[in-house]
Amino acid sequence: MSQILILDFGSQSTHLIQRRLQDLGYTASIVPSHISVSEIKDKNPKAIIFSGSPSSVYENNAPNYDIAILELPLPKLGLCYGFQCTVHHLGGKVEGAPIREYGECPVSILKEDPLFQNINKEFITWMSHGDSITNLPESFTLLAESNTHPAAAHCPQYHFWGLQFHPELVHSQQGTEILNNFAQHIAGLTPTANTIAHTFHTISDEVKAQIGDDPVLILVSGGVDSSVAAAVLLKSLDPNKVHLMYIDTGLMRKNETEEIRHILSQLNAQHIHIINAKERFFSSLKGISDPETKRKIIGDLFVSVTMDEVQKLDLPTDFFLAQGTLYTDLIESGKGVGTKAHIIKSHHNVNSPLIIAKRESGKLVEPLKDLYKDNARSLGLYLGIPETLIFRHPFPGPGLGVRVLGDVDPEKCRILQEADAIYIEELRKRELYPKIWQAFAVFVPIKSVGVAGDVRKYGYTIALRAVCSVDGVSADIYDFEMKDLREISSRITNEVPEVARVVYDISSKPPATIEWE
Ligand code: XMP
Repeated sequence: MSQILILDFGSQSTHLIQRRLQDLGYTASIVPSHISVSEIKDKNPKAIIFSGSPSSVYENNAPNYDIAILELPLPKLGLCYGFQCTVHHLGGKVEGAPIREYGECPVSILKEDPLFQNINKEFITWMSHGDSITNLPESFTLLAESNTHPAAAHCPQYHFWGLQFHPELVHSQQGTEILNNFAQHIAGLTPTANTIAHTFHTISDEVKAQIGDDPVLILVSGGVDSSVAAAVLLKSLDPNKVHLMYIDTGLMRKNETEEIRHILSQLNAQHIHIINAKERFFSSLKGISDPETKRKIIGDLFVSVTMDEVQKLDLPTDFFLAQGTLYTDLIESGKGVGTKAHIIKSHHNVNSPLIIAKRESGKLVEPLKDLYKDNARSLGLYLGIPETLIFRHPFPGPGLGVRVLGDVDPEKCRILQEADAIYIEELRKRELYPKIWQAFAVFVPIKSVGVAGDVRKYGYTIALRAVCSVDGVSADIYDFEMKDLREISSRITNEVPEVARVVYDISSKPPATIEWE
Protein backbone atom coordinates (compact mmCIF):
# COMPACT_ATOMS: atom_id res chain seq x y z
CA MET A 1 0.00 0.00 0.00
CA SER A 2 1.74 3.20 -1.15
CA GLN A 3 1.37 6.52 0.63
CA ILE A 4 1.48 8.51 -2.60
CA LEU A 5 -0.08 7.64 -5.93
CA ILE A 6 1.53 9.15 -9.02
CA LEU A 7 -0.77 9.46 -12.02
CA ASP A 8 1.37 9.04 -15.12
CA PHE A 9 0.59 11.27 -18.09
CA GLY A 10 3.60 9.97 -20.03
CA SER A 11 6.46 12.18 -18.89
CA GLN A 12 10.04 10.93 -19.16
CA SER A 13 10.53 11.91 -15.54
CA THR A 14 7.49 10.26 -13.92
CA HIS A 15 9.70 7.53 -12.62
CA LEU A 16 12.05 10.09 -11.09
CA ILE A 17 9.20 11.50 -9.00
CA GLN A 18 8.76 8.06 -7.50
CA ARG A 19 12.52 7.67 -7.05
CA ARG A 20 12.85 10.99 -5.23
CA LEU A 21 9.93 10.22 -2.92
CA GLN A 22 11.33 6.79 -2.14
CA ASP A 23 14.75 8.28 -1.47
CA LEU A 24 13.03 10.66 0.96
CA GLY A 25 11.53 7.66 2.75
CA TYR A 26 7.96 7.67 1.36
CA THR A 27 6.25 4.91 -0.55
CA ALA A 28 4.94 5.87 -3.96
CA SER A 29 3.54 3.96 -6.89
CA ILE A 30 2.85 4.91 -10.46
CA VAL A 31 -0.55 4.30 -12.05
CA PRO A 32 -1.91 5.29 -15.47
CA SER A 33 -3.60 8.71 -15.59
CA HIS A 34 -6.94 7.16 -16.61
CA ILE A 35 -7.29 5.28 -13.30
CA SER A 36 -10.85 5.36 -11.90
CA VAL A 37 -11.90 6.97 -8.63
CA SER A 38 -12.91 3.62 -7.18
CA GLU A 39 -9.53 2.09 -8.05
CA ILE A 40 -7.86 5.00 -6.27
CA LYS A 41 -10.09 4.46 -3.23
CA ASP A 42 -9.09 0.79 -3.20
CA LYS A 43 -5.46 1.78 -3.10
CA ASN A 44 -6.15 4.15 -0.23
CA PRO A 45 -3.32 6.65 -0.86
CA LYS A 46 -2.71 9.65 1.36
CA ALA A 47 -1.81 12.00 -1.50
CA ILE A 48 -1.86 12.15 -5.29
CA ILE A 49 0.69 13.57 -7.74
CA PHE A 50 -0.17 14.30 -11.37
CA SER A 51 2.92 13.91 -13.56
CA GLY A 52 4.09 15.89 -16.57
CA SER A 53 3.55 14.84 -20.18
CA PRO A 54 4.99 15.45 -23.63
CA SER A 55 1.43 16.31 -24.78
CA SER A 56 -0.43 19.59 -24.91
CA VAL A 57 -3.83 19.78 -23.17
CA TYR A 58 -5.47 20.85 -26.44
CA GLU A 59 -4.24 17.93 -28.51
CA ASN A 60 -6.69 15.29 -29.63
CA ASN A 61 -6.32 12.29 -27.35
CA ALA A 62 -4.25 14.28 -24.86
CA PRO A 63 -3.96 12.20 -21.68
CA ASN A 64 -6.57 13.14 -19.14
CA TYR A 65 -7.91 12.12 -15.76
CA ASP A 66 -11.34 11.67 -14.27
CA ILE A 67 -12.28 15.08 -12.89
CA ALA A 68 -14.07 13.38 -9.98
CA ILE A 69 -10.58 12.63 -8.62
CA LEU A 70 -10.37 16.30 -7.67
CA GLU A 71 -13.30 15.78 -5.30
CA LEU A 72 -11.36 13.22 -3.26
CA PRO A 73 -10.40 14.74 0.09
CA LEU A 74 -6.69 14.18 -0.51
CA PRO A 75 -3.84 16.63 -1.10
CA LYS A 76 -2.89 16.74 -4.76
CA LEU A 77 0.13 18.10 -6.57
CA GLY A 78 0.20 18.71 -10.32
CA LEU A 79 3.59 18.97 -12.03
CA CYS A 80 3.81 20.82 -15.36
CA TYR A 81 1.17 19.09 -17.53
CA GLY A 82 -0.51 17.77 -14.38
CA PHE A 83 -0.92 21.42 -13.33
CA GLN A 84 -2.01 22.63 -16.78
CA CYS A 85 -4.52 19.84 -17.21
CA THR A 86 -6.17 20.72 -13.90
CA VAL A 87 -6.23 24.43 -14.73
CA HIS A 88 -7.83 23.54 -18.05
CA HIS A 89 -10.45 21.35 -16.28
CA LEU A 90 -11.35 24.13 -13.87
CA GLY A 91 -11.89 26.87 -16.44
CA GLY A 92 -8.44 28.49 -16.58
CA LYS A 93 -6.47 29.11 -19.76
CA VAL A 94 -3.45 27.25 -21.13
CA GLU A 95 -1.88 28.50 -24.35
CA GLY A 96 1.08 27.83 -26.57
CA ALA A 97 3.51 30.39 -25.20
CA PRO A 98 5.33 32.77 -27.59
CA ILE A 99 8.46 32.08 -25.58
CA ARG A 100 8.77 28.46 -24.68
CA GLU A 101 10.43 27.68 -21.41
CA TYR A 102 13.04 24.98 -21.69
CA GLY A 103 15.89 24.50 -19.30
CA GLU A 104 16.90 26.63 -16.37
CA CYS A 105 14.38 29.22 -15.29
CA PRO A 106 14.36 31.49 -12.20
CA VAL A 107 11.25 31.45 -10.04
CA SER A 108 10.14 33.99 -7.42
CA ILE A 109 7.90 33.03 -4.54
CA LEU A 110 5.06 35.55 -4.10
CA LYS A 111 3.16 34.07 -1.18
CA GLU A 112 4.08 31.92 1.79
CA ASP A 113 2.82 28.35 1.65
CA PRO A 114 3.69 25.06 3.36
CA LEU A 115 4.91 23.83 -0.06
CA PHE A 116 7.69 26.41 0.10
CA GLN A 117 8.61 26.03 3.75
CA ASN A 118 12.35 26.75 4.13
CA ILE A 119 12.71 27.41 0.40
CA ASN A 120 14.58 30.52 -0.80
CA LYS A 121 12.37 33.30 -2.18
CA GLU A 122 14.21 33.10 -5.50
CA PHE A 123 15.48 29.82 -6.91
CA ILE A 124 16.35 28.19 -10.19
CA THR A 125 14.05 25.53 -11.57
CA TRP A 126 14.02 23.30 -14.60
CA MET A 127 11.21 23.90 -17.03
CA SER A 128 10.29 21.95 -20.11
CA HIS A 129 7.07 23.14 -21.63
CA GLY A 130 5.74 24.76 -24.77
CA ASP A 131 2.35 25.68 -23.27
CA SER A 132 1.92 28.13 -20.43
CA ILE A 133 -0.90 28.93 -18.07
CA THR A 134 -2.11 32.38 -19.07
CA ASN A 135 -5.11 32.54 -16.79
CA LEU A 136 -5.60 30.77 -13.48
CA PRO A 137 -9.13 29.74 -12.50
CA GLU A 138 -10.65 32.01 -9.87
CA SER A 139 -10.40 29.39 -7.17
CA PHE A 140 -6.57 29.42 -7.47
CA THR A 141 -4.13 31.57 -5.52
CA LEU A 142 -0.86 32.40 -7.27
CA LEU A 143 2.12 31.31 -5.15
CA ALA A 144 5.11 31.87 -7.45
CA GLU A 145 5.91 33.11 -10.93
CA SER A 146 8.56 32.92 -13.63
CA ASN A 147 8.83 35.27 -16.61
CA THR A 148 5.39 36.61 -15.61
CA HIS A 149 3.86 33.12 -15.95
CA PRO A 150 2.39 31.28 -12.98
CA ALA A 151 5.07 28.92 -11.65
CA ALA A 152 3.08 27.69 -8.64
CA ALA A 153 -0.50 28.00 -7.45
CA HIS A 154 -2.88 26.58 -4.87
CA CYS A 155 -6.55 25.73 -5.08
CA PRO A 156 -7.85 25.21 -1.50
CA GLN A 157 -11.24 23.96 -2.70
CA TYR A 158 -9.70 20.80 -4.17
CA HIS A 159 -6.59 20.60 -1.95
CA PHE A 160 -4.62 21.04 -5.15
CA TRP A 161 -1.16 22.55 -5.60
CA GLY A 162 0.37 23.04 -9.03
CA LEU A 163 3.98 23.59 -10.10
CA GLN A 164 4.92 24.57 -13.63
CA PHE A 165 8.47 23.29 -13.14
CA HIS A 166 9.82 19.81 -12.45
CA PRO A 167 10.98 19.49 -8.81
CA GLU A 168 12.01 15.88 -9.49
CA LEU A 169 14.87 16.95 -11.79
CA VAL A 170 18.22 17.56 -10.15
CA HIS A 171 18.56 20.85 -11.99
CA SER A 172 15.61 22.27 -10.05
CA GLN A 173 17.21 23.76 -6.95
CA GLN A 174 15.50 22.61 -3.77
CA GLY A 175 13.17 20.42 -5.83
CA THR A 176 13.59 17.50 -3.46
CA GLU A 177 12.79 19.74 -0.48
CA ILE A 178 9.63 20.93 -2.23
CA LEU A 179 8.52 17.33 -2.79
CA ASN A 180 9.32 16.60 0.84
CA ASN A 181 7.29 19.63 1.93
CA PHE A 182 4.33 18.32 -0.03
CA ALA A 183 4.61 14.85 1.49
CA GLN A 184 5.42 15.90 5.03
CA HIS A 185 3.80 19.29 5.63
CA ILE A 186 0.83 19.09 3.29
CA ALA A 187 0.01 15.37 3.21
CA GLY A 188 1.18 14.87 6.82
CA LEU A 189 3.22 11.77 5.97
CA THR A 190 6.10 10.50 8.05
CA PRO A 191 9.12 9.19 6.15
CA THR A 192 10.38 5.75 7.08
CA ALA A 193 13.80 5.71 8.71
CA ASN A 194 15.56 3.05 6.68
CA THR A 195 14.73 3.44 3.05
CA ILE A 196 16.92 0.70 1.68
CA ALA A 197 15.30 -1.81 4.01
CA HIS A 198 11.99 -0.52 2.80
CA THR A 199 13.01 -0.85 -0.86
CA PHE A 200 14.07 -4.40 -0.19
CA HIS A 201 10.79 -5.32 1.50
CA THR A 202 8.75 -3.83 -1.33
CA ILE A 203 10.76 -5.71 -3.97
CA SER A 204 10.79 -8.85 -1.90
CA ASP A 205 6.98 -8.82 -1.55
CA GLU A 206 6.64 -8.42 -5.32
CA VAL A 207 9.04 -11.29 -5.99
CA LYS A 208 7.22 -13.57 -3.54
CA ALA A 209 3.86 -12.67 -5.04
CA GLN A 210 5.09 -13.33 -8.57
CA ILE A 211 7.07 -16.53 -8.02
CA GLY A 212 5.49 -18.12 -4.96
CA ASP A 213 6.92 -21.59 -4.41
CA ASP A 214 7.94 -22.20 -8.02
CA PRO A 215 11.56 -22.69 -9.01
CA VAL A 216 13.45 -19.77 -10.48
CA LEU A 217 16.66 -19.60 -12.47
CA ILE A 218 18.98 -16.63 -12.75
CA LEU A 219 22.08 -16.30 -14.87
CA VAL A 220 24.81 -14.56 -12.93
CA SER A 221 27.70 -12.89 -14.69
CA GLY A 222 29.77 -11.68 -11.74
CA GLY A 223 28.57 -8.15 -12.39
CA VAL A 224 26.60 -5.94 -9.98
CA ASP A 225 23.11 -6.22 -11.48
CA SER A 226 22.79 -9.97 -11.76
CA SER A 227 24.47 -10.50 -8.38
CA VAL A 228 22.08 -8.12 -6.62
CA ALA A 229 19.08 -9.68 -8.37
CA ALA A 230 20.32 -13.12 -7.26
CA ALA A 231 20.71 -11.88 -3.68
CA VAL A 232 17.13 -10.53 -3.74
CA LEU A 233 15.83 -13.94 -4.84
CA LEU A 234 17.88 -15.80 -2.25
CA LYS A 235 16.72 -13.53 0.57
CA SER A 236 13.07 -13.49 -0.51
CA LEU A 237 12.40 -17.09 -1.51
CA ASP A 238 13.24 -20.56 -0.29
CA PRO A 239 16.92 -20.82 -1.39
CA ASN A 240 16.22 -24.41 -2.37
CA LYS A 241 14.03 -23.12 -5.18
CA VAL A 242 16.62 -20.68 -6.51
CA HIS A 243 18.99 -21.90 -9.22
CA LEU A 244 22.00 -19.81 -10.16
CA MET A 245 23.87 -20.45 -13.36
CA TYR A 246 27.25 -18.97 -14.16
CA ILE A 247 28.92 -19.67 -17.47
CA ASP A 248 32.69 -19.68 -17.30
CA THR A 249 33.70 -18.68 -20.81
CA GLY A 250 37.40 -18.61 -19.96
CA LEU A 251 37.24 -14.91 -20.83
CA MET A 252 36.75 -13.72 -17.27
CA ARG A 253 39.14 -11.86 -15.00
CA LYS A 254 41.60 -13.78 -12.83
CA ASN A 255 39.89 -15.86 -10.10
CA GLU A 256 36.52 -14.38 -11.06
CA THR A 257 34.72 -17.72 -11.15
CA GLU A 258 35.94 -18.69 -7.68
CA GLU A 259 35.06 -15.28 -6.27
CA ILE A 260 31.51 -15.41 -7.55
CA ARG A 261 31.06 -18.96 -6.26
CA HIS A 262 32.24 -17.82 -2.83
CA ILE A 263 29.96 -14.77 -2.78
CA LEU A 264 26.92 -16.80 -3.82
CA SER A 265 27.62 -19.44 -1.17
CA GLN A 266 27.84 -16.69 1.45
CA LEU A 267 24.38 -15.60 0.32
CA ASN A 268 23.16 -19.10 1.14
CA ALA A 269 22.80 -20.26 -2.46
CA GLN A 270 22.02 -23.99 -2.54
CA HIS A 271 22.12 -24.62 -6.29
CA ILE A 272 25.06 -22.95 -7.99
CA HIS A 273 25.58 -24.34 -11.47
CA ILE A 274 29.03 -23.29 -12.64
CA ILE A 275 29.32 -24.29 -16.27
CA ASN A 276 32.82 -24.76 -17.57
CA ALA A 277 32.42 -23.75 -21.21
CA LYS A 278 36.02 -22.62 -21.76
CA GLU A 279 36.72 -25.30 -24.36
CA ARG A 280 33.68 -24.39 -26.43
CA PHE A 281 34.56 -20.70 -26.38
CA PHE A 282 38.26 -21.12 -27.13
CA SER A 283 37.69 -23.58 -29.94
CA SER A 284 35.06 -21.33 -31.55
CA LEU A 285 37.39 -18.34 -31.32
CA LYS A 286 40.45 -20.17 -32.65
CA GLY A 287 42.13 -18.27 -35.47
CA ILE A 288 39.47 -15.51 -35.51
CA SER A 289 40.93 -12.03 -35.28
CA ASP A 290 38.21 -9.67 -36.52
CA PRO A 291 36.67 -7.90 -33.48
CA GLU A 292 33.08 -7.90 -34.69
CA THR A 293 33.26 -11.57 -35.67
CA LYS A 294 34.66 -12.39 -32.25
CA ARG A 295 31.86 -10.47 -30.54
CA LYS A 296 29.24 -12.26 -32.58
CA ILE A 297 30.74 -15.68 -31.90
CA ILE A 298 30.89 -15.01 -28.17
CA GLY A 299 27.33 -13.61 -28.03
CA ASP A 300 25.81 -16.45 -30.07
CA LEU A 301 27.72 -19.12 -28.21
CA PHE A 302 26.64 -17.67 -24.90
CA VAL A 303 23.03 -18.07 -25.93
CA SER A 304 23.47 -21.65 -27.16
CA VAL A 305 25.53 -22.77 -24.14
CA THR A 306 22.83 -21.32 -21.90
CA MET A 307 20.08 -23.14 -23.80
CA ASP A 308 21.99 -26.45 -23.67
CA GLU A 309 22.77 -26.17 -19.98
CA VAL A 310 19.28 -25.08 -18.93
CA GLN A 311 17.92 -28.17 -20.68
CA LYS A 312 20.17 -30.31 -18.51
CA LEU A 313 18.82 -28.86 -15.26
CA ASP A 314 16.13 -30.74 -13.49
CA LEU A 315 13.57 -27.96 -13.74
CA PRO A 316 9.90 -28.12 -14.76
CA THR A 317 9.27 -26.47 -18.13
CA ASP A 318 7.37 -23.55 -16.59
CA PHE A 319 10.17 -22.38 -14.27
CA PHE A 320 10.62 -18.64 -13.76
CA LEU A 321 13.64 -16.87 -15.22
CA ALA A 322 15.04 -13.80 -13.44
CA GLN A 323 17.44 -11.16 -14.70
CA GLY A 324 18.97 -8.01 -13.28
CA THR A 325 17.45 -5.44 -15.66
CA LEU A 326 17.69 -1.92 -14.20
CA TYR A 327 15.40 0.99 -14.89
CA THR A 328 18.12 2.63 -16.97
CA ASP A 329 18.20 -0.44 -19.23
CA LEU A 330 14.52 0.21 -19.90
CA ILE A 331 15.00 3.94 -20.53
CA GLU A 332 17.80 3.19 -22.96
CA SER A 333 15.30 1.21 -24.98
CA GLY A 334 13.50 4.56 -25.50
CA LYS A 335 10.36 3.43 -23.74
CA GLY A 336 8.87 5.50 -20.94
CA VAL A 337 6.94 4.31 -17.96
CA GLY A 338 3.61 2.73 -18.80
CA THR A 339 4.54 1.64 -22.27
CA LYS A 340 7.85 0.17 -21.28
CA ALA A 341 8.96 -2.64 -23.48
CA HIS A 342 11.60 -4.66 -21.77
CA ILE A 343 14.90 -4.84 -23.49
CA ILE A 344 17.32 -7.61 -22.88
CA LYS A 345 20.58 -7.16 -21.04
CA SER A 346 23.19 -6.99 -23.70
CA HIS A 347 25.66 -9.25 -21.96
CA HIS A 348 23.98 -12.61 -21.88
CA ASN A 349 20.85 -12.43 -23.61
CA VAL A 350 20.66 -10.61 -26.89
CA ASN A 351 17.68 -12.17 -28.63
CA SER A 352 17.93 -15.19 -26.42
CA PRO A 353 14.99 -17.43 -27.33
CA LEU A 354 14.78 -18.40 -23.66
CA ILE A 355 14.20 -14.81 -22.52
CA ILE A 356 11.69 -14.19 -25.29
CA ALA A 357 9.74 -17.34 -24.42
CA LYS A 358 9.74 -16.57 -20.71
CA ARG A 359 8.63 -13.00 -21.26
CA GLU A 360 5.79 -14.15 -23.50
CA SER A 361 4.60 -16.70 -20.96
CA GLY A 362 4.75 -14.20 -18.08
CA LYS A 363 7.60 -16.09 -16.42
CA LEU A 364 10.26 -13.40 -16.60
CA VAL A 365 11.13 -11.75 -13.29
CA GLU A 366 13.03 -8.47 -13.15
CA PRO A 367 13.31 -7.53 -9.47
CA LEU A 368 15.50 -4.45 -10.06
CA LYS A 369 13.46 -2.94 -12.87
CA ASP A 370 12.56 0.17 -10.82
CA LEU A 371 16.10 0.83 -9.58
CA TYR A 372 18.96 2.93 -10.84
CA LYS A 373 22.52 1.68 -10.57
CA ASP A 374 23.18 3.52 -7.31
CA ASN A 375 20.04 2.07 -5.70
CA ALA A 376 20.98 -1.41 -6.89
CA ARG A 377 24.42 -0.94 -5.34
CA SER A 378 22.94 0.17 -2.00
CA LEU A 379 20.58 -2.78 -2.05
CA GLY A 380 23.44 -5.15 -2.81
CA LEU A 381 25.46 -3.83 0.12
CA TYR A 382 22.40 -4.09 2.34
CA LEU A 383 21.98 -7.73 1.33
CA GLY A 384 25.59 -8.53 2.16
CA ILE A 385 27.38 -8.50 -1.20
CA PRO A 386 30.99 -7.38 -0.66
CA GLU A 387 32.00 -3.86 -1.66
CA THR A 388 34.68 -5.21 -3.99
CA LEU A 389 31.97 -6.64 -6.23
CA ILE A 390 29.48 -3.82 -5.78
CA PHE A 391 31.94 -1.10 -6.77
CA ARG A 392 33.77 -3.08 -9.43
CA HIS A 393 34.50 -1.28 -12.68
CA PRO A 394 32.31 -2.16 -15.68
CA PHE A 395 33.32 -5.25 -17.62
CA PRO A 396 32.22 -5.87 -21.20
CA GLY A 397 29.98 -8.84 -22.04
CA PRO A 398 32.57 -10.45 -24.37
CA GLY A 399 35.13 -10.11 -21.57
CA LEU A 400 38.77 -10.73 -22.38
CA GLY A 401 37.64 -11.80 -25.85
CA VAL A 402 37.86 -8.11 -26.78
CA ARG A 403 40.86 -7.34 -24.59
CA VAL A 404 43.15 -9.91 -26.16
CA LEU A 405 43.63 -8.19 -29.49
CA GLY A 406 43.39 -10.40 -32.55
CA ASP A 407 43.00 -14.14 -32.15
CA VAL A 408 42.31 -15.37 -28.66
CA ASP A 409 43.75 -18.44 -26.95
CA PRO A 410 43.94 -19.69 -23.36
CA GLU A 411 47.59 -18.76 -22.95
CA LYS A 412 47.10 -15.15 -24.06
CA CYS A 413 44.10 -14.91 -21.74
CA ARG A 414 46.16 -16.24 -18.86
CA ILE A 415 48.94 -13.70 -19.46
CA LEU A 416 46.38 -10.90 -19.64
CA GLN A 417 44.64 -12.10 -16.47
CA GLU A 418 47.94 -12.04 -14.58
CA ALA A 419 48.88 -8.56 -15.79
CA ASP A 420 45.37 -7.20 -15.21
CA ALA A 421 45.22 -8.64 -11.67
CA ILE A 422 48.52 -6.91 -10.77
CA TYR A 423 47.30 -3.64 -12.27
CA ILE A 424 44.00 -3.72 -10.36
CA GLU A 425 45.65 -4.83 -7.13
CA GLU A 426 48.07 -1.89 -7.37
CA LEU A 427 45.23 0.55 -8.04
CA ARG A 428 43.38 -0.67 -4.98
CA LYS A 429 46.53 -0.55 -2.84
CA ARG A 430 47.20 3.03 -3.95
CA GLU A 431 43.52 3.97 -3.33
CA LEU A 432 43.22 4.96 -6.97
CA TYR A 433 40.62 2.35 -7.94
CA PRO A 434 37.54 4.34 -6.78
CA LYS A 435 38.85 7.48 -8.50
CA ILE A 436 38.89 5.73 -11.88
CA TRP A 437 35.72 4.83 -13.75
CA GLN A 438 37.21 1.89 -15.58
CA ALA A 439 40.71 0.45 -15.62
CA PHE A 440 41.97 -2.68 -17.30
CA ALA A 441 44.89 -4.21 -19.15
CA VAL A 442 44.91 -5.06 -22.86
CA PHE A 443 46.96 -7.84 -24.44
CA VAL A 444 48.74 -6.43 -27.50
CA PRO A 445 50.07 -9.30 -29.64
CA ILE A 446 53.24 -7.49 -30.59
CA LYS A 447 56.51 -8.84 -29.36
CA SER A 448 59.47 -6.67 -28.55
CA VAL A 449 62.90 -7.19 -27.11
CA GLY A 450 63.72 -6.76 -23.47
CA VAL A 451 66.28 -7.89 -20.93
CA ALA A 452 65.62 -9.85 -17.78
CA GLY A 453 68.69 -10.26 -15.63
CA ASP A 454 71.38 -10.46 -18.26
CA VAL A 455 69.22 -12.49 -20.57
CA ARG A 456 67.60 -11.16 -23.70
CA LYS A 457 63.87 -11.68 -23.70
CA TYR A 458 61.36 -11.35 -26.50
CA GLY A 459 57.92 -10.78 -25.04
CA TYR A 460 54.44 -9.41 -25.54
CA THR A 461 53.13 -5.91 -24.87
CA ILE A 462 50.55 -5.01 -22.26
CA ALA A 463 48.66 -1.73 -22.61
CA LEU A 464 47.12 -0.18 -19.52
CA ARG A 465 43.85 1.71 -19.86
CA ALA A 466 42.30 3.95 -17.18
CA VAL A 467 39.46 6.34 -17.92
CA CYS A 468 37.25 8.81 -16.11
CA SER A 469 33.68 8.91 -17.32
CA VAL A 470 30.11 9.25 -16.12
CA ASP A 471 28.36 6.79 -18.37
CA GLY A 472 30.96 5.40 -20.75
CA VAL A 473 29.63 7.49 -23.63
CA SER A 474 32.60 9.83 -23.49
CA ALA A 475 35.72 9.39 -21.43
CA ASP A 476 38.98 11.08 -20.57
CA ILE A 477 42.15 9.36 -19.57
CA TYR A 478 43.12 9.21 -15.92
CA ASP A 479 46.09 11.43 -15.13
CA PHE A 480 48.40 9.07 -13.28
CA GLU A 481 51.43 10.22 -11.38
CA MET A 482 54.33 8.87 -13.42
CA LYS A 483 55.64 7.15 -10.30
CA ASP A 484 52.50 4.99 -10.11
CA LEU A 485 52.79 3.99 -13.75
CA ARG A 486 56.48 3.17 -13.44
CA GLU A 487 55.93 0.97 -10.40
CA ILE A 488 52.94 -0.85 -11.90
CA SER A 489 54.82 -1.41 -15.15
CA SER A 490 57.80 -2.75 -13.28
CA ARG A 491 55.68 -5.22 -11.28
CA ILE A 492 54.03 -6.53 -14.45
CA THR A 493 57.27 -7.08 -16.37
CA ASN A 494 58.90 -8.64 -13.32
CA GLU A 495 56.07 -10.96 -12.42
CA VAL A 496 54.68 -11.94 -15.81
CA PRO A 497 57.69 -13.32 -17.72
CA GLU A 498 55.90 -13.36 -21.08
CA VAL A 499 55.55 -9.55 -20.99
CA ALA A 500 58.48 -7.45 -22.19
CA ARG A 501 56.90 -4.02 -22.32
CA VAL A 502 54.07 -2.03 -20.74
CA VAL A 503 52.52 1.05 -22.37
CA TYR A 504 49.86 3.49 -21.17
CA ASP A 505 46.99 4.38 -23.50
CA ILE A 506 46.55 8.18 -23.58
CA SER A 507 43.59 8.34 -25.97
CA SER A 508 40.33 9.88 -24.82
CA LYS A 509 36.90 8.84 -26.12
CA PRO A 510 36.21 10.15 -28.69
CA PRO A 511 38.14 9.61 -30.89
CA ALA A 512 39.14 6.26 -29.34
CA THR A 513 36.67 3.91 -27.69
CA ILE A 514 37.24 2.67 -24.15
CA GLU A 515 37.76 -0.93 -25.18
CA TRP A 516 40.32 -1.58 -27.87
CA GLU A 517 38.06 -3.85 -29.90
P1 XMP B 1 33.44 1.48 -25.69
O1 XMP B 1 34.56 0.55 -25.93
O2 XMP B 1 32.33 1.33 -26.69
O3 XMP B 1 32.81 1.02 -24.30
O4 XMP B 1 33.88 2.90 -25.54
C1 XMP B 1 31.90 1.76 -23.51
C2 XMP B 1 31.59 0.95 -22.27
O5 XMP B 1 30.85 -0.23 -22.63
C3 XMP B 1 31.55 -1.40 -22.23
N1 XMP B 1 31.36 -2.39 -23.31
C4 XMP B 1 30.48 -3.40 -23.26
N2 XMP B 1 29.63 -3.78 -22.29
N3 XMP B 1 28.90 -5.59 -23.63
C5 XMP B 1 28.85 -4.90 -22.48
O6 XMP B 1 28.09 -5.29 -21.58
C6 XMP B 1 29.72 -5.27 -24.66
O7 XMP B 1 29.76 -5.91 -25.69
C7 XMP B 1 30.55 -4.10 -24.45
N4 XMP B 1 31.47 -3.49 -25.22
C8 XMP B 1 31.96 -2.42 -24.50
C9 XMP B 1 32.98 -0.96 -22.07
O8 XMP B 1 33.70 -1.81 -21.18
C10 XMP B 1 32.81 0.44 -21.54
O9 XMP B 1 32.52 0.42 -20.16
